[in-house]
Amino acid sequence: MAKSSSRCCCCSWFIGILVLIAVVLAVVITIRNKANRSDDGDDIVPGPPGSIDKKYADALKIAMQFFDIQKSGKLENNKIPWRGDSGLKDGNEASLDLSKGLYDAGDHMKFGFPMAFTATVLSWSILEYADQMDSLNQLDPAKHTLKWTTDFLINAHPSANVLYIQVGDPEVDHKCWDRPETMSRKRSLTKIDTETPGTEVAAETAAAMAAASLVFKESDPKYSSSLLKHAKQLFDFADSNRGSYSVNIPAVQKYYNSTGYGDELLWAASWLYHATEDKTYLDFVSKNGDEFANFGSPSWFSWDNKLPGTQILLSRLTFFKKGLSGSKGLQGYKETAEAVMCGLIPNSPTATSSRTDGGLIWVAEWNAMQHPVSSAFLATLYSDYMLTSGIEQFSCGDTSFKPSDLRKFARSQADYMLGKNPEKMSYLVGYGEKYPEFVHHRGASIPADANTGCKDGFKWLQSEEPNPNVAYGALVGGPFLNETFIDARNNSMQNEPSTYNSALVVGLLSSLVTTSSSLESFM
Ligand SMILES: *[C@@H]1O[C@H](CO)[C@@H](O)[C@H](O)[C@H]1NC(C)=O
Ligand SMILES: *[C@@H]1O[C@H](CO)[C@@H](O)[C@H](O)[C@H]1NC(C)=O
Ligand SMILES: *[C@@H]1O[C@H](CO)[C@@H](O)[C@H](O)[C@H]1NC(C)=O
Ligand SMILES: *[C@@H]1O[C@H](CO)[C@@H](O)[C@H](O)[C@H]1NC(C)=O
Repeated sequence: MAKSSSRCCCCSWFIGILVLIAVVLAVVITIRNKANRSDDGDDIVPGPPGSIDKKYADALKIAMQFFDIQKSGKLENNKIPWRGDSGLKDGNEASLDLSKGLYDAGDHMKFGFPMAFTATVLSWSILEYADQMDSLNQLDPAKHTLKWTTDFLINAHPSANVLYIQVGDPEVDHKCWDRPETMSRKRSLTKIDTETPGTEVAAETAAAMAAASLVFKESDPKYSSSLLKHAKQLFDFADSNRGSYSVNIPAVQKYYNSTGYGDELLWAASWLYHATEDKTYLDFVSKNGDEFANFGSPSWFSWDNKLPGTQILLSRLTFFKKGLSGSKGLQGYKETAEAVMCGLIPNSPTATSSRTDGGLIWVAEWNAMQHPVSSAFLATLYSDYMLTSGIEQFSCGDTSFKPSDLRKFARSQADYMLGKNPEKMSYLVGYGEKYPEFVHHRGASIPADANTGCKDGFKWLQSEEPNPNVAYGALVGGPFLNETFIDARNNSMQNEPSTYNSALVVGLLSSLVTTSSSLESFM
Protein backbone atom coordinates (compact mmCIF):
# COMPACT_ATOMS: atom_id res chain seq x y z
CA MET A 1 0.00 0.00 0.00
CA ALA A 2 1.54 3.19 -1.12
CA LYS A 3 1.35 5.85 1.56
CA SER A 4 -0.05 9.12 0.24
CA SER A 5 2.53 11.89 0.29
CA SER A 6 1.85 14.76 2.66
CA ARG A 7 -0.26 17.52 1.31
CA CYS A 8 1.86 20.46 2.48
CA CYS A 9 5.59 20.66 2.87
CA CYS A 10 5.78 22.41 6.24
CA CYS A 11 3.23 20.46 8.26
CA SER A 12 5.21 17.24 7.96
CA TRP A 13 7.75 18.27 10.65
CA PHE A 14 4.91 19.30 12.90
CA ILE A 15 3.18 15.95 12.44
CA GLY A 16 6.53 14.33 13.03
CA ILE A 17 6.82 16.01 16.43
CA LEU A 18 3.26 15.04 17.33
CA VAL A 19 3.99 11.44 16.41
CA LEU A 20 7.18 11.52 18.47
CA ILE A 21 5.28 12.84 21.50
CA ALA A 22 2.61 10.18 21.02
CA VAL A 23 5.21 7.43 20.83
CA VAL A 24 6.99 8.65 23.97
CA LEU A 25 3.68 8.88 25.83
CA ALA A 26 2.64 5.43 24.65
CA VAL A 27 5.92 3.93 25.81
CA VAL A 28 5.72 5.64 29.21
CA ILE A 29 2.11 4.55 29.72
CA THR A 30 2.93 1.01 28.63
CA ILE A 31 5.87 0.81 31.03
CA ARG A 32 3.72 2.10 33.90
CA ASN A 33 0.90 -0.30 33.10
CA LYS A 34 3.29 -3.20 32.81
CA ALA A 35 4.99 -2.33 36.09
CA ASN A 36 1.71 -2.84 37.90
CA ARG A 37 0.80 -6.14 36.34
CA SER A 38 2.16 -9.12 38.18
CA ASP A 39 0.81 -11.82 35.89
CA ASP A 40 2.86 -10.71 32.93
CA GLY A 41 6.26 -11.56 34.32
CA ASP A 42 7.92 -12.29 31.02
CA ASP A 43 6.27 -9.73 28.79
CA ILE A 44 8.26 -8.04 26.10
CA VAL A 45 10.05 -5.13 27.71
CA PRO A 46 8.99 -2.11 25.71
CA GLY A 47 11.95 -0.94 23.72
CA PRO A 48 12.67 1.05 20.64
CA PRO A 49 10.82 -0.29 17.61
CA GLY A 50 12.74 -3.10 16.02
CA SER A 51 14.35 -4.51 19.13
CA ILE A 52 14.36 -8.27 19.01
CA ASP A 53 12.60 -10.37 21.59
CA LYS A 54 15.06 -13.15 22.25
CA LYS A 55 12.51 -15.73 23.36
CA TYR A 56 10.52 -15.61 20.13
CA ALA A 57 13.66 -15.20 18.03
CA ASP A 58 15.16 -18.38 19.50
CA ALA A 59 11.88 -20.21 19.05
CA LEU A 60 11.59 -19.07 15.42
CA LYS A 61 15.08 -20.32 14.58
CA ILE A 62 14.18 -23.68 16.05
CA ALA A 63 10.74 -23.86 14.40
CA MET A 64 12.25 -23.27 10.96
CA GLN A 65 14.38 -26.41 11.26
CA PHE A 66 11.42 -28.74 11.01
CA PHE A 67 10.95 -27.90 7.34
CA ASP A 68 14.43 -29.26 6.63
CA ILE A 69 13.56 -32.44 8.47
CA GLN A 70 10.50 -32.91 6.23
CA LYS A 71 12.13 -32.37 2.85
CA SER A 72 11.84 -35.10 0.27
CA GLY A 73 14.05 -35.42 -2.82
CA LYS A 74 17.68 -34.79 -3.57
CA LEU A 75 18.60 -32.47 -0.73
CA GLU A 76 20.58 -29.26 -1.17
CA ASN A 77 22.75 -27.90 1.65
CA ASN A 78 21.23 -30.41 4.02
CA LYS A 79 21.82 -29.34 7.61
CA ILE A 80 20.12 -32.27 9.32
CA PRO A 81 22.79 -34.92 10.02
CA TRP A 82 20.29 -37.78 10.16
CA ARG A 83 18.50 -36.85 6.93
CA GLY A 84 19.50 -37.70 3.35
CA ASP A 85 18.03 -38.07 -0.12
CA SER A 86 14.71 -39.88 -0.42
CA GLY A 87 11.68 -40.23 -2.65
CA LEU A 88 13.86 -39.73 -5.72
CA LYS A 89 11.57 -41.80 -7.93
CA ASP A 90 8.34 -40.23 -6.72
CA GLY A 91 6.18 -39.42 -9.74
CA ASN A 92 7.85 -41.98 -12.02
CA GLU A 93 4.67 -43.86 -12.72
CA ALA A 94 3.28 -40.74 -14.46
CA SER A 95 6.67 -39.70 -15.88
CA LEU A 96 6.72 -36.72 -13.53
CA ASP A 97 9.37 -35.54 -11.10
CA LEU A 98 7.51 -35.40 -7.81
CA SER A 99 10.63 -36.00 -5.75
CA LYS A 100 10.55 -32.66 -3.94
CA GLY A 101 7.93 -31.36 -1.55
CA LEU A 102 7.48 -32.01 2.15
CA TYR A 103 6.51 -35.14 4.03
CA ASP A 104 3.32 -34.38 5.84
CA ALA A 105 3.98 -35.50 9.40
CA GLY A 106 5.63 -38.46 11.13
CA ASP A 107 5.09 -40.70 8.09
CA HIS A 108 6.26 -40.52 4.49
CA MET A 109 3.09 -39.36 2.82
CA LYS A 110 3.02 -36.32 0.59
CA PHE A 111 -0.56 -35.06 0.83
CA GLY A 112 -1.16 -32.23 -1.61
CA PHE A 113 -4.04 -30.57 0.27
CA PRO A 114 -2.22 -29.78 3.53
CA MET A 115 1.07 -29.27 1.68
CA ALA A 116 -0.46 -26.53 -0.43
CA PHE A 117 -1.92 -24.94 2.71
CA THR A 118 1.59 -25.02 4.21
CA ALA A 119 2.90 -23.15 1.18
CA THR A 120 0.10 -20.57 1.33
CA VAL A 121 0.64 -19.83 5.01
CA LEU A 122 4.41 -19.76 4.65
CA SER A 123 4.05 -17.31 1.77
CA TRP A 124 1.75 -15.12 3.83
CA SER A 125 4.25 -15.13 6.69
CA ILE A 126 7.07 -14.13 4.38
CA LEU A 127 5.01 -11.42 2.70
CA GLU A 128 4.13 -9.77 6.01
CA TYR A 129 7.19 -10.51 8.12
CA ALA A 130 10.13 -10.75 5.73
CA ASP A 131 11.97 -8.04 7.67
CA GLN A 132 11.66 -9.90 10.93
CA MET A 133 12.75 -13.17 9.35
CA ASP A 134 15.64 -11.48 7.61
CA SER A 135 16.91 -9.91 10.82
CA LEU A 136 17.40 -13.45 12.13
CA ASN A 137 18.76 -14.85 8.84
CA GLN A 138 15.63 -16.91 8.36
CA LEU A 139 14.28 -15.27 5.21
CA ASP A 140 16.42 -17.17 2.73
CA PRO A 141 15.75 -20.53 4.40
CA ALA A 142 12.02 -19.74 4.42
CA LYS A 143 12.07 -18.90 0.71
CA HIS A 144 14.09 -22.03 0.03
CA THR A 145 11.52 -24.19 1.79
CA LEU A 146 8.71 -22.42 -0.03
CA LYS A 147 10.34 -23.00 -3.41
CA TRP A 148 11.00 -26.64 -2.50
CA THR A 149 7.26 -26.96 -2.02
CA THR A 150 6.10 -24.93 -5.01
CA ASP A 151 8.57 -26.78 -7.29
CA PHE A 152 6.68 -29.90 -6.31
CA LEU A 153 3.30 -28.26 -6.86
CA ILE A 154 4.32 -27.00 -10.31
CA ASN A 155 5.43 -30.49 -11.35
CA ALA A 156 2.22 -31.93 -9.90
CA HIS A 157 0.24 -29.76 -12.34
CA PRO A 158 1.33 -31.06 -15.76
CA SER A 159 -1.68 -29.71 -17.67
CA ALA A 160 -4.44 -27.20 -17.04
CA ASN A 161 -7.01 -29.65 -15.69
CA VAL A 162 -4.81 -32.29 -14.07
CA LEU A 163 -3.33 -32.07 -10.59
CA TYR A 164 -1.56 -34.84 -8.72
CA ILE A 165 -2.66 -34.53 -5.13
CA GLN A 166 -0.98 -37.39 -3.32
CA VAL A 167 2.24 -39.38 -3.45
CA GLY A 168 2.15 -42.69 -1.61
CA ASP A 169 -0.75 -44.79 -0.40
CA PRO A 170 -1.33 -44.16 3.30
CA GLU A 171 -2.61 -47.69 3.90
CA VAL A 172 0.58 -49.11 2.43
CA ASP A 173 2.83 -46.47 3.97
CA HIS A 174 1.48 -47.04 7.47
CA LYS A 175 2.35 -50.73 7.32
CA CYS A 176 6.01 -49.72 7.57
CA TRP A 177 8.13 -47.97 10.18
CA ASP A 178 11.26 -46.93 8.35
CA ARG A 179 13.47 -44.01 7.47
CA PRO A 180 12.47 -42.09 4.34
CA GLU A 181 15.98 -42.72 3.02
CA THR A 182 15.50 -46.50 2.99
CA MET A 183 11.92 -46.79 1.81
CA SER A 184 11.61 -48.93 -1.29
CA ARG A 185 7.88 -49.57 -1.61
CA LYS A 186 5.78 -48.52 -4.55
CA ARG A 187 4.67 -44.91 -4.25
CA SER A 188 1.32 -44.75 -5.97
CA LEU A 189 -0.11 -41.47 -7.20
CA THR A 190 -3.55 -39.91 -6.87
CA LYS A 191 -4.80 -37.18 -9.18
CA ILE A 192 -7.81 -35.02 -9.85
CA ASP A 193 -9.05 -34.03 -13.31
CA THR A 194 -12.31 -33.05 -15.01
CA GLU A 195 -13.69 -36.56 -14.49
CA THR A 196 -12.72 -36.66 -10.84
CA PRO A 197 -12.69 -33.04 -9.73
CA GLY A 198 -11.40 -31.83 -6.37
CA THR A 199 -12.28 -28.19 -6.05
CA GLU A 200 -10.79 -27.62 -2.59
CA VAL A 201 -7.39 -29.09 -3.38
CA ALA A 202 -7.15 -27.38 -6.76
CA ALA A 203 -8.19 -24.06 -5.21
CA GLU A 204 -5.81 -24.38 -2.25
CA THR A 205 -2.99 -25.11 -4.69
CA ALA A 206 -4.01 -22.04 -6.67
CA ALA A 207 -3.91 -19.99 -3.46
CA ALA A 208 -0.43 -21.32 -2.64
CA MET A 209 0.91 -20.49 -6.08
CA ALA A 210 -0.65 -17.04 -6.20
CA ALA A 211 0.75 -16.18 -2.76
CA ALA A 212 4.17 -17.61 -3.64
CA SER A 213 4.19 -15.65 -6.91
CA LEU A 214 4.18 -12.50 -4.77
CA VAL A 215 7.06 -13.78 -2.66
CA PHE A 216 9.24 -14.37 -5.73
CA LYS A 217 8.02 -11.38 -7.71
CA GLU A 218 11.21 -9.38 -7.29
CA SER A 219 13.86 -11.99 -6.62
CA ASP A 220 12.82 -14.37 -9.42
CA PRO A 221 10.31 -12.77 -11.81
CA LYS A 222 10.33 -15.66 -14.24
CA TYR A 223 9.50 -18.19 -11.55
CA SER A 224 6.90 -15.83 -10.17
CA SER A 225 5.05 -15.54 -13.46
CA SER A 226 5.15 -19.28 -13.94
CA LEU A 227 3.54 -19.69 -10.52
CA LEU A 228 0.91 -17.15 -11.41
CA LYS A 229 0.09 -18.93 -14.65
CA HIS A 230 -0.42 -22.20 -12.78
CA ALA A 231 -2.48 -20.43 -10.12
CA LYS A 232 -4.89 -18.94 -12.66
CA GLN A 233 -5.31 -22.25 -14.48
CA LEU A 234 -5.93 -24.10 -11.24
CA PHE A 235 -8.49 -21.59 -10.08
CA ASP A 236 -10.40 -21.94 -13.36
CA PHE A 237 -10.16 -25.72 -13.12
CA ALA A 238 -11.41 -25.62 -9.51
CA ASP A 239 -14.23 -23.21 -10.22
CA SER A 240 -15.56 -24.68 -13.44
CA ASN A 241 -15.35 -28.33 -12.31
CA ARG A 242 -16.95 -28.11 -8.93
CA GLY A 243 -16.89 -31.11 -6.67
CA SER A 244 -15.29 -32.11 -3.40
CA TYR A 245 -12.26 -34.37 -3.54
CA SER A 246 -13.50 -36.08 -0.39
CA VAL A 247 -16.67 -37.08 -2.19
CA ASN A 248 -14.99 -38.05 -5.45
CA ILE A 249 -12.05 -39.89 -3.87
CA PRO A 250 -13.52 -41.29 -0.64
CA ALA A 251 -10.20 -42.87 0.38
CA VAL A 252 -8.90 -39.43 1.35
CA GLN A 253 -11.57 -39.05 4.03
CA LYS A 254 -9.59 -41.02 6.57
CA TYR A 255 -6.72 -38.54 6.45
CA TYR A 256 -7.57 -35.07 5.19
CA ASN A 257 -11.31 -35.06 4.84
CA SER A 258 -12.55 -31.77 3.50
CA THR A 259 -15.81 -30.39 4.83
CA GLY A 260 -16.40 -28.28 1.72
CA TYR A 261 -14.75 -26.27 -1.04
CA GLY A 262 -16.46 -22.87 -0.82
CA ASP A 263 -13.84 -21.57 1.61
CA GLU A 264 -10.96 -22.58 -0.65
CA LEU A 265 -12.57 -20.90 -3.67
CA LEU A 266 -12.86 -17.62 -1.76
CA TRP A 267 -9.34 -17.97 -0.34
CA ALA A 268 -7.84 -18.68 -3.76
CA ALA A 269 -9.71 -15.77 -5.36
CA SER A 270 -8.49 -13.49 -2.56
CA TRP A 271 -4.88 -14.46 -3.11
CA LEU A 272 -5.28 -14.18 -6.86
CA TYR A 273 -6.63 -10.68 -6.44
CA HIS A 274 -3.63 -9.76 -4.34
CA ALA A 275 -1.31 -11.26 -6.94
CA THR A 276 -2.95 -9.77 -10.02
CA GLU A 277 -5.18 -6.87 -8.94
CA ASP A 278 -7.54 -8.26 -11.55
CA LYS A 279 -11.00 -7.16 -10.49
CA THR A 280 -12.57 -10.42 -11.65
CA TYR A 281 -11.24 -12.11 -8.52
CA LEU A 282 -12.55 -9.37 -6.27
CA ASP A 283 -15.95 -9.69 -7.93
CA PHE A 284 -15.79 -13.40 -7.26
CA VAL A 285 -15.43 -12.94 -3.50
CA SER A 286 -18.12 -10.26 -3.44
CA LYS A 287 -20.59 -12.34 -5.43
CA ASN A 288 -19.99 -15.65 -3.70
CA GLY A 289 -19.78 -14.41 -0.12
CA ASP A 290 -23.42 -15.05 0.71
CA GLU A 291 -23.18 -18.61 -0.52
CA PHE A 292 -19.84 -19.61 0.95
CA ALA A 293 -18.51 -17.17 3.54
CA ASN A 294 -20.81 -17.86 6.46
CA PHE A 295 -20.89 -14.16 7.36
CA GLY A 296 -21.21 -13.32 11.01
CA SER A 297 -20.10 -16.72 12.27
CA PRO A 298 -16.55 -16.88 13.58
CA SER A 299 -14.77 -20.18 12.92
CA TRP A 300 -11.32 -21.71 13.32
CA PHE A 301 -8.55 -21.34 10.75
CA SER A 302 -7.10 -24.72 9.79
CA TRP A 303 -5.97 -26.89 6.86
CA ASP A 304 -9.68 -27.59 6.31
CA ASN A 305 -11.23 -24.18 6.97
CA LYS A 306 -9.81 -21.16 5.16
CA LEU A 307 -12.66 -18.79 5.98
CA PRO A 308 -11.03 -16.94 8.90
CA GLY A 309 -7.84 -16.54 6.84
CA THR A 310 -9.89 -15.18 3.95
CA GLN A 311 -11.69 -12.74 6.25
CA ILE A 312 -8.42 -11.36 7.60
CA LEU A 313 -6.76 -11.25 4.19
CA LEU A 314 -9.68 -9.37 2.64
CA SER A 315 -9.74 -7.00 5.62
CA ARG A 316 -6.18 -6.16 4.65
CA LEU A 317 -7.64 -4.57 1.52
CA THR A 318 -10.11 -2.48 3.47
CA PHE A 319 -7.29 -1.27 5.74
CA PHE A 320 -4.72 -0.50 3.09
CA LYS A 321 -6.22 -0.13 -0.31
CA LYS A 322 -7.63 3.24 -1.15
CA GLY A 323 -11.02 2.88 -2.74
CA LEU A 324 -11.81 -0.41 -1.05
CA SER A 325 -12.16 0.76 2.54
CA GLY A 326 -15.94 1.08 2.27
CA SER A 327 -16.39 -1.65 -0.31
CA LYS A 328 -19.78 -3.28 0.08
CA GLY A 329 -18.62 -6.61 -1.25
CA LEU A 330 -15.93 -6.78 1.43
CA GLN A 331 -18.03 -5.62 4.34
CA GLY A 332 -19.23 -9.05 5.41
CA TYR A 333 -15.66 -10.29 5.46
CA LYS A 334 -14.44 -7.36 7.52
CA GLU A 335 -17.28 -7.73 10.03
CA THR A 336 -16.67 -11.42 10.38
CA ALA A 337 -12.94 -10.84 10.78
CA GLU A 338 -13.76 -8.56 13.71
CA ALA A 339 -16.08 -11.18 15.13
CA VAL A 340 -13.23 -13.68 14.97
CA MET A 341 -10.96 -11.25 16.80
CA CYS A 342 -13.63 -10.54 19.41
CA GLY A 343 -13.93 -14.25 20.07
CA LEU A 344 -10.23 -14.56 20.80
CA ILE A 345 -9.72 -11.75 23.31
CA PRO A 346 -10.38 -13.39 26.68
CA ASN A 347 -12.22 -10.48 28.31
CA SER A 348 -14.34 -9.63 25.28
CA PRO A 349 -18.12 -9.94 25.74
CA THR A 350 -18.15 -12.48 22.90
CA ALA A 351 -15.06 -14.41 24.01
CA THR A 352 -15.07 -18.05 22.98
CA SER A 353 -15.31 -20.59 25.77
CA SER A 354 -13.14 -23.03 23.81
CA ARG A 355 -10.17 -22.63 26.15
CA THR A 356 -8.29 -24.63 28.73
CA ASP A 357 -8.18 -23.38 32.31
CA GLY A 358 -4.72 -22.07 31.53
CA GLY A 359 -6.10 -19.95 28.67
CA LEU A 360 -5.04 -21.97 25.64
CA ILE A 361 -7.53 -21.95 22.80
CA TRP A 362 -8.63 -25.57 22.63
CA VAL A 363 -10.94 -26.86 19.94
CA ALA A 364 -9.99 -30.44 19.09
CA GLU A 365 -8.27 -33.38 20.68
CA TRP A 366 -6.27 -34.25 17.56
CA ASN A 367 -3.55 -31.71 16.91
CA ALA A 368 -4.88 -29.40 19.61
CA MET A 369 -2.12 -26.81 19.05
CA GLN A 370 -3.25 -26.04 15.52
CA HIS A 371 -6.10 -23.75 16.54
CA PRO A 372 -4.37 -21.64 19.21
CA VAL A 373 -1.41 -21.10 16.90
CA SER A 374 -3.49 -20.29 13.83
CA SER A 375 -5.72 -17.97 15.89
CA ALA A 376 -2.75 -16.18 17.40
CA PHE A 377 -1.21 -15.73 13.94
CA LEU A 378 -4.41 -14.13 12.64
CA ALA A 379 -4.61 -11.95 15.75
CA THR A 380 -1.12 -10.51 15.26
CA LEU A 381 -1.85 -9.91 11.59
CA TYR A 382 -5.02 -8.03 12.42
CA SER A 383 -3.29 -6.11 15.16
CA ASP A 384 -0.50 -5.13 12.78
CA TYR A 385 -2.95 -4.12 10.07
CA MET A 386 -4.61 -1.83 12.58
CA LEU A 387 -1.32 -0.39 13.82
CA THR A 388 0.05 0.14 10.35
CA SER A 389 -3.09 1.90 9.18
CA GLY A 390 -3.41 3.96 12.35
CA ILE A 391 -6.70 2.48 13.55
CA GLU A 392 -6.69 2.59 17.31
CA GLN A 393 -9.56 0.40 18.37
CA PHE A 394 -12.41 -1.87 17.42
CA SER A 395 -15.58 -2.81 19.25
CA CYS A 396 -16.80 -6.10 20.60
CA GLY A 397 -20.33 -5.46 21.80
CA ASP A 398 -20.11 -2.41 24.02
CA THR A 399 -16.40 -2.80 24.79
CA SER A 400 -13.57 -1.52 22.67
CA PHE A 401 -10.19 -3.15 22.28
CA LYS A 402 -6.83 -2.09 20.98
CA PRO A 403 -4.27 -3.79 18.77
CA SER A 404 -2.26 -4.42 21.93
CA ASP A 405 -5.08 -6.59 23.28
CA LEU A 406 -4.77 -8.81 20.23
CA ARG A 407 -1.02 -8.95 20.57
CA LYS A 408 -1.30 -9.81 24.23
CA PHE A 409 -3.64 -12.68 23.33
CA ALA A 410 -1.20 -13.89 20.67
CA ARG A 411 1.71 -13.81 23.11
CA SER A 412 -0.31 -15.75 25.67
CA GLN A 413 -0.82 -18.56 23.16
CA ALA A 414 2.82 -18.55 22.09
CA ASP A 415 4.00 -18.50 25.69
CA TYR A 416 1.75 -21.40 26.59
CA MET A 417 3.14 -23.33 23.64
CA LEU A 418 6.69 -22.57 24.74
CA GLY A 419 6.27 -23.84 28.30
CA LYS A 420 4.09 -21.47 30.32
CA ASN A 421 1.59 -24.23 31.08
CA PRO A 422 0.78 -26.66 33.89
CA GLU A 423 3.02 -29.39 32.42
CA LYS A 424 5.84 -26.84 32.08
CA MET A 425 6.28 -28.51 28.71
CA SER A 426 7.33 -26.80 25.53
CA TYR A 427 5.30 -28.27 22.69
CA LEU A 428 7.88 -26.95 20.24
CA VAL A 429 10.52 -29.67 20.18
CA GLY A 430 14.00 -28.43 20.98
CA TYR A 431 12.85 -25.25 22.72
CA GLY A 432 13.29 -24.85 26.47
CA GLU A 433 14.26 -27.40 29.05
CA LYS A 434 11.38 -29.82 28.76
CA TYR A 435 9.87 -30.91 25.46
CA PRO A 436 8.53 -34.19 24.06
CA GLU A 437 11.24 -36.82 23.65
CA PHE A 438 9.11 -39.56 22.13
CA VAL A 439 7.77 -37.62 19.16
CA HIS A 440 5.76 -39.78 16.73
CA HIS A 441 8.13 -39.38 13.81
CA ARG A 442 9.77 -42.26 11.97
CA GLY A 443 12.95 -40.51 10.92
CA ALA A 444 13.55 -39.09 14.39
CA SER A 445 12.91 -42.42 16.09
CA ILE A 446 15.34 -44.54 14.04
CA PRO A 447 19.12 -44.13 14.31
CA ALA A 448 20.55 -42.97 11.00
CA ASP A 449 22.82 -46.02 10.79
CA ALA A 450 20.17 -48.58 11.75
CA ASN A 451 19.99 -51.50 9.43
CA THR A 452 16.23 -51.94 9.54
CA GLY A 453 13.54 -51.72 6.91
CA CYS A 454 9.79 -51.64 6.55
CA LYS A 455 8.66 -54.29 9.06
CA ASP A 456 11.53 -54.83 11.48
CA GLY A 457 11.70 -51.05 11.90
CA PHE A 458 8.63 -51.22 14.15
CA LYS A 459 10.96 -52.08 17.01
CA TRP A 460 11.93 -48.39 16.95
CA LEU A 461 8.31 -47.38 17.36
CA GLN A 462 8.08 -49.64 20.39
CA SER A 463 11.47 -48.72 21.84
CA GLU A 464 11.42 -47.45 25.43
CA GLU A 465 14.30 -45.08 24.71
CA PRO A 466 13.77 -41.44 23.73
CA ASN A 467 14.14 -40.66 20.03
CA PRO A 468 17.81 -40.90 19.00
CA ASN A 469 17.33 -37.86 16.72
CA VAL A 470 15.74 -34.67 17.97
CA ALA A 471 13.08 -33.42 15.55
CA TYR A 472 13.98 -29.77 16.15
CA GLY A 473 11.13 -27.42 15.46
CA ALA A 474 8.41 -30.04 15.43
CA LEU A 475 5.22 -28.62 16.88
CA VAL A 476 3.46 -31.66 18.30
CA GLY A 477 -0.30 -32.07 18.65
CA GLY A 478 -0.39 -30.78 22.21
CA PRO A 479 -2.35 -31.19 25.45
CA PHE A 480 -5.74 -32.58 26.36
CA LEU A 481 -8.41 -30.13 27.44
CA ASN A 482 -7.38 -30.84 31.03
CA GLU A 483 -3.85 -29.70 30.07
CA THR A 484 -2.16 -33.06 30.51
CA PHE A 485 0.05 -34.60 27.86
CA ILE A 486 1.38 -38.11 27.32
CA ASP A 487 4.86 -38.19 25.83
CA ALA A 488 4.61 -41.59 24.16
CA ARG A 489 5.72 -42.46 20.64
CA ASN A 490 2.51 -44.33 19.83
CA ASN A 491 0.46 -41.29 20.88
CA SER A 492 -0.03 -39.86 17.41
CA MET A 493 -3.02 -37.86 18.59
CA GLN A 494 -0.90 -35.65 20.86
CA ASN A 495 2.67 -36.31 19.88
CA GLU A 496 2.79 -36.16 16.07
CA PRO A 497 4.00 -32.99 14.38
CA SER A 498 2.85 -31.72 10.98
CA THR A 499 4.34 -29.40 8.43
CA TYR A 500 1.27 -27.17 8.26
CA ASN A 501 1.57 -26.59 12.01
CA SER A 502 5.11 -25.43 11.30
CA ALA A 503 3.97 -22.89 8.72
CA LEU A 504 1.50 -21.44 11.21
CA VAL A 505 4.00 -21.32 14.05
CA VAL A 506 6.67 -19.74 11.86
CA GLY A 507 4.17 -17.04 10.93
CA LEU A 508 3.22 -16.43 14.53
CA LEU A 509 6.76 -16.32 15.87
CA SER A 510 7.93 -14.05 13.03
CA SER A 511 5.22 -11.60 13.97
CA LEU A 512 6.19 -11.65 17.64
CA VAL A 513 9.91 -11.16 17.11
CA THR A 514 9.79 -7.38 17.32
CA THR A 515 7.58 -4.99 19.24
CA SER A 516 7.17 -2.59 16.36
CA SER A 517 4.76 -3.24 13.57
CA SER A 518 4.96 -1.79 10.18
CA LEU A 519 4.15 -4.40 7.64
CA GLU A 520 6.06 -5.28 4.57
CA SER A 521 3.91 -4.09 1.72
CA PHE A 522 3.00 -6.56 -0.96
CA MET A 523 0.58 -4.61 -3.04
C1 LIG B 1 1.05 1.77 39.26
O1 LIG B 1 1.46 1.75 40.62
C2 LIG B 1 1.93 3.01 41.09
C3 LIG B 1 2.49 2.84 42.50
O2 LIG B 1 2.03 1.65 43.09
C4 LIG B 1 0.77 4.01 41.04
O3 LIG B 1 1.20 5.29 41.49
C5 LIG B 1 0.30 4.12 39.59
O4 LIG B 1 -0.83 4.96 39.51
C6 LIG B 1 -0.08 2.74 39.03
N1 LIG B 1 -0.34 2.88 37.62
C7 LIG B 1 -1.37 2.32 37.02
C8 LIG B 1 -1.48 2.56 35.55
O5 LIG B 1 -2.21 1.65 37.61
C1 LIG C 1 -15.95 -36.24 5.79
O1 LIG C 1 -16.65 -35.01 5.78
C2 LIG C 1 -17.99 -35.12 5.33
C3 LIG C 1 -18.55 -33.71 5.19
O2 LIG C 1 -18.42 -33.00 6.37
C4 LIG C 1 -18.75 -36.00 6.29
O3 LIG C 1 -20.07 -36.15 5.85
C5 LIG C 1 -18.09 -37.36 6.37
O4 LIG C 1 -18.71 -38.17 7.34
C6 LIG C 1 -16.62 -37.22 6.73
N1 LIG C 1 -15.95 -38.51 6.66
C7 LIG C 1 -15.25 -39.02 7.67
C8 LIG C 1 -14.62 -40.36 7.43
O5 LIG C 1 -15.08 -38.44 8.72
C1 LIG D 1 -7.21 -35.72 31.05
O1 LIG D 1 -7.99 -35.97 29.90
C2 LIG D 1 -7.68 -37.18 29.24
C3 LIG D 1 -8.46 -37.23 27.93
O2 LIG D 1 -9.78 -36.92 28.12
C4 LIG D 1 -7.98 -38.36 30.16
O3 LIG D 1 -7.66 -39.56 29.51
C5 LIG D 1 -7.12 -38.20 31.42
O4 LIG D 1 -7.44 -39.21 32.33
C6 LIG D 1 -7.36 -36.85 32.07
N1 LIG D 1 -6.38 -36.67 33.14
C7 LIG D 1 -6.69 -36.15 34.31
C8 LIG D 1 -5.60 -36.03 35.29
O5 LIG D 1 -7.82 -35.79 34.56
C1 LIG E 1 0.84 -47.00 23.64
O1 LIG E 1 1.61 -47.99 24.32
C2 LIG E 1 1.30 -48.09 25.70
C3 LIG E 1 2.30 -49.02 26.34
O2 LIG E 1 2.56 -50.14 25.55
C4 LIG E 1 -0.15 -48.57 25.83
O3 LIG E 1 -0.48 -48.67 27.20
C5 LIG E 1 -1.06 -47.55 25.15
O4 LIG E 1 -2.38 -48.01 25.17
C6 LIG E 1 -0.64 -47.31 23.71
N1 LIG E 1 -1.39 -46.17 23.21
C7 LIG E 1 -1.90 -46.14 22.00
C8 LIG E 1 -2.58 -44.86 21.63
O5 LIG E 1 -1.84 -47.06 21.22
